[in-house]
Amino acid sequence: MGAMTTDTTPLPSPAAYAAAVSSAVRAATAYYTDGSTPLGDDEYDALLRAILAYEQEHPDEVLPESPSGKVAGGSVQGDVPHSVPMLSLDNVFSDEELAEWAAGLERRLGRPVAAWCVEPKLDGLAVAARYQGGQLVQLLTRGDGLAGEDITHAAEAVLGLPATLAEPLDLELRGEVLLTTAQFDEANRIRTEHGATPFAHPRSGAAGTLRAKDRPYRIELTFFAYGAVGLDHLDHSALLEALAALGAHTAAGTPAAPLRCADLAQVGQRIAAITALRSALPFGIDGVVVKADAGADQQAAGSGSRAPRWAVARKLAAEHKVTRLLAVEWNVGRTGIIAPRAVLEPVVIDGVTVTYATLHNPADITRRGLMLGDQVFVYRAGDVIPRVEAPLADQRTGAETEIVFPEACPRCEDAIDSSEQRWRCVRGRACQAVASVRYAAGRDQLDIEGLGGTRAVQLVESGLVSDLADLFTLTKEQLLTLDRMGEVSADNLLAAIETARGAALHRVFCALGVRGTGRTMSRRIAAHFGSLAAIRAADADTLAEVDGIGPEKARLISAELLSLAPLLDRLAAQGVGTQVAEPQRTAAVAAEGDGETVGAGPLAGPLTGETVVVTGSMTGPLAALSRTEVNELVERAGGKSSSSVSQRTTLLVAGEKAGSKRAKAESLGIRILSPEEFAELVADHLPSA
Ligand code: IVH
Repeated sequence: MGAMTTDTTPLPSPAAYAAAVSSAVRAATAYYTDGSTPLGDDEYDALLRAILAYEQEHPDEVLPESPSGKVAGGSVQGDVPHSVPMLSLDNVFSDEELAEWAAGLERRLGRPVAAWCVEPKLDGLAVAARYQGGQLVQLLTRGDGLAGEDITHAAEAVLGLPATLAEPLDLELRGEVLLTTAQFDEANRIRTEHGATPFAHPRSGAAGTLRAKDRPYRIELTFFAYGAVGLDHLDHSALLEALAALGAHTAAGTPAAPLRCADLAQVGQRIAAITALRSALPFGIDGVVVKADAGADQQAAGSGSRAPRWAVARKLAAEHKVTRLLAVEWNVGRTGIIAPRAVLEPVVIDGVTVTYATLHNPADITRRGLMLGDQVFVYRAGDVIPRVEAPLADQRTGAETEIVFPEACPRCEDAIDSSEQRWRCVRGRACQAVASVRYAAGRDQLDIEGLGGTRAVQLVESGLVSDLADLFTLTKEQLLTLDRMGEVSADNLLAAIETARGAALHRVFCALGVRGTGRTMSRRIAAHFGSLAAIRAADADTLAEVDGIGPEKARLISAELLSLAPLLDRLAAQGVGTQVAEPQRTAAVAAEGDGETVGAGPLAGPLTGETVVVTGSMTGPLAALSRTEVNELVERAGGKSSSSVSQRTTLLVAGEKAGSKRAKAESLGIRILSPEEFAELVADHLPSA
């Protein structure tokens, strides 16, 4: 469940209170009229809590326009009076507040609540649908709760709101109209097709659609019934069944179906279950509603001016938040797709700090009219990748700037094919091939000298190489066909490739550039599995046994490995990574489960029994070594190499600019050596020795 803060920062002065009231009124008006909002839901709730707290302390200073105690914050009025007021719900923000609320209700009743009903709090707009003789005659918005706006014209596009009930009753259905996720996507597809700006938010889309009269296109909505005037005597769970039997759509049959609960413990479990399902639901919810189920309990509890006393909303953290768009980065995918990514002012959405969000494609940026510096709506739910939905154009200050689209591929600098919505490097997969061959040949991977940028481009463009495995099939004749490639260079390159064929497993694995695995992780994986074949056979569960790989990362890596399987097979066929060159192979198994250990050790040597962390830049005899090579040195000398300082660390090699690791090692009383002192200690194992 998302952590929500229920702390309220007190308003320090009457002026601060007045300012808070006016922001809240402005936000409520925007929200209830066109569904837009200058504030995120959480911010609005926090503002309202601060206002309420101030008013409790200073009851004689309450401003008449204060949104407290009013339905819809007192922001809107309609002209059709409601038969019975359409009330709002009180909110609680934690399980403790819910328990307090329930205890208060039971005190008022003077008896335990007979049973509860727990159901989703649908994130849409409340409506009243009037039926006469079973025929739908009028559809109203909630308005200010006392009178609403006539939106009967919109009824035909609302799924789940029957034109005719199963029985010829005079009845008023109450419920929520919303855009399901699928309807929201479809609505934005349709709007884009008609040159209209996409909806920022399903709720604003629903609000706008219910009011709109002369649109040249039709957008479907969905109704969920949760009440009826005229059937109030029924228990709530029985009422929901009766509504469904009349042909109205309810949340029954959805994964968040209303459930009757015997006690608060069950209520808590159901809330947790619905919360856990939230991101998988086909519609948005902003909370869970807990209702006293028995008609008798509801009647005995009654209602206040704003909300019933027998129901409460357990609010969930908003999935939409407002933050600032700081920059747009352009990343090139495996197939050459060039995808924009938003860099955001960090914002916490449902307990997770979001710094990046997807922007789909350049056309989408244009369609949404985004600018750098804009306040934007960001959406994140469960595991989905956060996305930027829309700018709050009315919040612009004039300091916003245009988003600059790249003119060349940001990875290989060749041209961009922008004929489709999704831009692509003209090299397509080859763009990736050049980049991945360059990466694989790098010093910390296969360290293939003579395979720099231009050679990689040449090899890929000539068609000789389209992935890593092709490198190992190159012949001298083939190389000699390349421009500026003489006998000597060809021999040297082939020799370097030959050396790479026998490279240590962790280097081969690192060369694959599997997402989520850098140098350190590659060493751990290599040590854990011991062979390319074992890595290829690893599933998410086995990968999760590797230190530092959680279930999420394990799934990611296993998916990548699956797509790399053909490449891995071809590498194996070329004898790459099959060398059990890893001297640590057996030791690796022995070291399994040793949390901190990166490499495997221990061979007999001066570092036997030592767990070594290397930090800062190396000098003296170690100056020429990459970090990977220093770690290899540690292992050759019998030690275990590790990337982070902990209780288990026994030795820190601290070069220049060693920062926090040195401080931590000092505080733990760990032995610290300079690169020169360390080089002396392991002199027999230095690469040149
Ligand atoms: S009951 C008298 N049940 O939430 C009972 N309301 O924040 C009042 N809402 O005005 C409503 N899902 O628009 C109820 N399952 C549900 C609901 C629900 C969404 C909305 C409704 C209400 C608002 C209060």
